[in-house]
Amino acid sequence: MHAATKLSIFMCLIATSFAEHHRSCDSPNMTGILMVSDLRQSNTVGAYTYDSVANKLRFTSFSTDTFNSSLNLDVLFFFDEGIFYEIDGKNQSCEKKSLQSSIHAMEIPSNAEFLSNMTIGSTTIEGEGIKISMWKGTVPGTKAQYMMGSSMGCLPLSFTCISETILIFSNTGIEMEIKDPDRLVVPSFCEAEVVEDTPEGKVNSFFSLFH
Ligand SMILES: *[C@@H]1O[C@H](CO)[C@@H](O)[C@H](O)[C@H]1NC(C)=O
Ligand SMILES: *[C@@H]1O[C@H](CO)[C@@H](O)[C@H](O)[C@H]1NC(C)=O
Ligand SMILES: *[C@@H]1O[C@H](CO)[C@@H](O)[C@H](O)[C@H]1NC(C)=O
Ligand SMILES: *[C@@H]1O[C@H](CO)[C@@H](O)[C@H](O)[C@H]1NC(C)=O
Repeated sequence: MHAATKLSIFMCLIATSFAEHHRSCDSPNMTGILMVSDLRQSNTVGAYTYDSVANKLRFTSFSTDTFNSSLNLDVLFFFDEGIFYEIDGKNQSCEKKSLQSSIHAMEIPSNAEFLSNMTIGSTTIEGEGIKISMWKGTVPGTKAQYMMGSSMGCLPLSFTCISETILIFSNTGIEMEIKDPDRLVVPSFCEAEVVEDTPEGKVNSFFSLFH
């Protein structure tokens, strides 16, 4: 986790600001591990499954001996429909809510501005460098700024969201397939749920869940 955090900060600092227009690319389908840190008390790690065609994401936190998640989350997002489910598998209960912002860390957001291509590590030593593209933008409906790094093959590697707090997402152990399609299906005990009212002034987003 420490290495990933440092890497993200490093990428933040080094990204230059001469912006230019650039054609974005779409993420592939992915299965992997997402690590999230607010650089203070909250660190959460979990398994995710992402369908980049339907823009659906499941994230389930877990705890291991080396990484104890501070948040207990099991969430299924339907970004295009603007809804998500908070799932409690043990209790077979579920909450269905509306999303006010559809930006998330698994895709280069459509409003992202290309910053630059750069190499982390070495450009000359074989196997010791990784080329990335840097992007930035703001999360619509909020004052949050984001900065992200994607690989040359368009894998979203790191996403930093900065508002009153900082959230850093590090995408690890990526496999370019949906290993378990069932994880993207609404559990039967959630099907009857109706969308809860969002409190006035609250913006539900992928990011707000990690605060
Ligand atoms: C991604 O997964 C979806 C759902 O399984 C599938 O329809 C789509 O073809 C996959 N896309 C690629 C590029 O494999
Ligand atoms: C994780 O933290 C909780 C609460 O602090 C503790 O009860 C639990 O034993 C920890 N789990 C592991 C695997 O360290
Ligand atoms: C299980 O769900 C019920 C009803 O939603 C709730 O009142 C209760 O607190 C939940 N229990 C746990 C352990 O989460
Ligand atoms: C950045 O890298 C991408 C992927 O290789 C390439 O398509 C693009 O032209 C590069 N942009 C610049 C400004 O070098």
